[in-house]
Amino acid sequence: MTIGAPIPHDSALAHATGAARFADDLAEPPGLLHGALVLSPVAHGLLAALDTATARALPGVVAVLTAADIPGANDVSPSGKGGETLFAERTVEHHGQPIALVLAETRDAALRAAAALEPAIAPLPALLDAEEALAHQAYLMPPQVIARGDAEHALDAAPLRAEGSFRSGGQEHFYLESQIAVATPGEDGEIAITSSTQHPTEVQHIAARVLGCDFNRIPVTCRRMGGGFGGKESNASWVAAAAAFGAQATGRPVKLRLARKADMAATGKRHPFLFRWRAGFDADGRILALDATLAADGGHSLDLTPGVVFRAITHALNCYDVPAVKLTALALRTNTVSHTAFRGFGGPQGVLLMEDVIRGVARATGHTPEEVRERNFAGAPNGGETPYGQALEGDLIRRVWAECRADAGWEARRQEIAAFNAAHPYLRRGLGSFVLAFGISFGVRHLNQAGALVHVYADGSIRLNHGGTEMGQGLNIKVAQVVAETFGVPLHRVRITATSTAEVPNTAPTAASTGSDLNGWAAHLAAGTIRGRMAGVAAALWEVPVEAIVFAGNRVFVDRPGDNRAMEFGELAHRCWIERVSLSATGFYRTPDIHWDAQAMRGEPFFYFSYGASVVEVVVDTLTGEHRVLRADLVQDAGRSLNPAVDRGQIEGAFVQGLGWLTCEELHWDEQGRQRTLGPSTYKIPGSRDVPPAFKVRLLSAAPARADTIFRSKAVGEPPLMLATAVWNALKDATGVERLDLPATPERVLMALAAKAR
Ligand code: MTE
Ligand code: HPA
Ligand code: MOS
Repeated sequence: MTIGAPIPHDSALAHATGAARFADDLAEPPGLLHGALVLSPVAHGLLAALDTATARALPGVVAVLTAADIPGANDVSPSGKGGETLFAERTVEHHGQPIALVLAETRDAALRAAAALEPAIAPLPALLDAEEALAHQAYLMPPQVIARGDAEHALDAAPLRAEGSFRSGGQEHFYLESQIAVATPGEDGEIAITSSTQHPTEVQHIAARVLGCDFNRIPVTCRRMGGGFGGKESNASWVAAAAAFGAQATGRPVKLRLARKADMAATGKRHPFLFRWRAGFDADGRILALDATLAADGGHSLDLTPGVVFRAITHALNCYDVPAVKLTALALRTNTVSHTAFRGFGGPQGVLLMEDVIRGVARATGHTPEEVRERNFAGAPNGGETPYGQALEGDLIRRVWAECRADAGWEARRQEIAAFNAAHPYLRRGLGSFVLAFGISFGVRHLNQAGALVHVYADGSIRLNHGGTEMGQGLNIKVAQVVAETFGVPLHRVRITATSTAEVPNTAPTAASTGSDLNGWAAHLAAGTIRGRMAGVAAALWEVPVEAIVFAGNRVFVDRPGDNRAMEFGELAHRCWIERVSLSATGFYRTPDIHWDAQAMRGEPFFYFSYGASVVEVVVDTLTGEHRVLRADLVQDAGRSLNPAVDRGQIEGAFVQGLGWLTCEELHWDEQGRQRTLGPSTYKIPGSRDVPPAFKVRLLSAAPARADTIFRSKAVGEPPLMLATAVWNALKDATGVERLDLPATPERVLMALAAKAR
């Protein structure tokens, strides 16, 4: 059995030793040119002139390309509906926006020439602050509203009322490998692209759009990324399109690798959000009515913002039931880089809302936040449906919470912490909790599909290709496990290969945590087709019905009492070849049942929900605002995990990434809209010492999953990031502050303490 075994990541050793090859490690083709981008130095302005001649004259420079040189469309929008240019045309809309591409014989020459190029830009007033954008109703798209019942009336009728507002910040992906693509011209107009991308198919589409050619001219390959985290869902496409454009213009291979600073300046981040809410409730803490607005700062253009806003609004009630509710989600337009997918995709922001509401209700009623939490869980005695009409599993919500609370030893720890706080004048400890229901599926219906291509060779070795991409999350090993299981062979017989649009076409991005759900199924179906043909050959040979043929333990045998005829899997593969039976098949999967009515804002957009719970203890130095997590207990539902070792790694990593978003990662734009946090010296990601010294992570025991998930497993990539929300609650518990904007840096904690003392 390979399913459910704690098998190491297939590249674990290669990652650690440096043997794993990333795009920049590949042997450089002869004649390679290096690209460097010219980025806008201002947030908003009219692009007057670009003196490319000076740059062109510099040593080693081969070409300087601008929007005017683009043969196809200057449109790299993922929607294909325009709004995003590869290179700015008449105006620049944000600091760091690409204006031109310099190509040179060496990387240094390219960077030097790009730095020497000074675009003439007449500055225009820039809209920088989300509050200001909200006041001006500067929207990227129409407001989205999900409503149930009459929230206004229910608010008036409620015995008690409270209100609140807060903001959450953005987040830089900080993948270790920055954005990169290599484009190589081939025969007859073909341009082959190696890209560090979560979405090879979109790289293909957008490169073809920019070049004005058919998709079949652009094969795209990705063996692995050095991290993506959503940052390579749409942003990888324009980087690759720029490289392809350079390759077509010069007839030479082009590598475009963004330096860290350029990557941080030119690529989108997690959406910052503004939240406002009013709630009505009773003295028991039961929330009766909620009217809330969630406003995402989308930056200057749409990118994936509609999807992010959709996930935020569908997750705004998280695992709670509120009978009368009105949720309004806005997408604000500002002159900042266009914000994009980031692990959780609006979900992490959405689920913050109820945490603030629960705290407000607890404060007003004198109950603990945990009592208020429990009283408002969806499922009996409360309603069990989201306000958009999809059922939640109330028993699972309560189970993850009960198990986590027990693991954490909640009651005893509360008392210990009270004793500690009584004994220390300046240090304050606090305990916080969090419970999650996260919907699994792409909000965009057509993305919920996957393909796979499996070959069995005549020696019984197997080559696996599927539409998903590997970014460190362990997708390839999970899909390989599925194929090994299907053929009943040891895992080492399955060869993992690079994702390629030439092998599996028309794929979805590897995102929304659906990689193994979708590609696991597609690969299982492809392998099942071949296994069926092989079983037919064995059945004919042994003159038994095909149903009697079993594949297990690297053997194929007749499953009948007293019949011990068998052969090795490889022997049967060889026989199939001799018998002229095809040992190659594709598999295709699309998620069943999901539907959404965008007019009514109702439906069942998610195949299922993934549940989780967390309890976190922090200590805060009230003199400096510094704080750290002392202990975290996490329970994450992964169904019947395909690979508990990989899943555990995902949970730990996601939690620490969430902790970074909520406590130390802070983006800063100055008054002129220039991004000032463009590297690790000014932008602080969590380090090894931010990992909780007591970090207790486990998968929900005996977790159920619907029978039509792949081997009854559940997605795990994004949900545990949200479990870090307990850190925010613990900080509020420790300090007793009412409002704590995010990220809760030491400075913000100190300011909140000062505000409380006034
Ligand atoms: N884990 C690693 N190591 N690196 C990554 O870039 N991306 C996350 C998550 N885990 C990521 C990761 C994000 S944003 C998603 S959507 C999922 O992995 C995608 O992969 P999956 O669908 O196979 O889980
Ligand atoms: N998650 C990530 N990427 C997406 C989604 C989603 O839900 N929808 C469209 N792109
Ligand atoms: Mo993940 S944000 O869906 O790439």
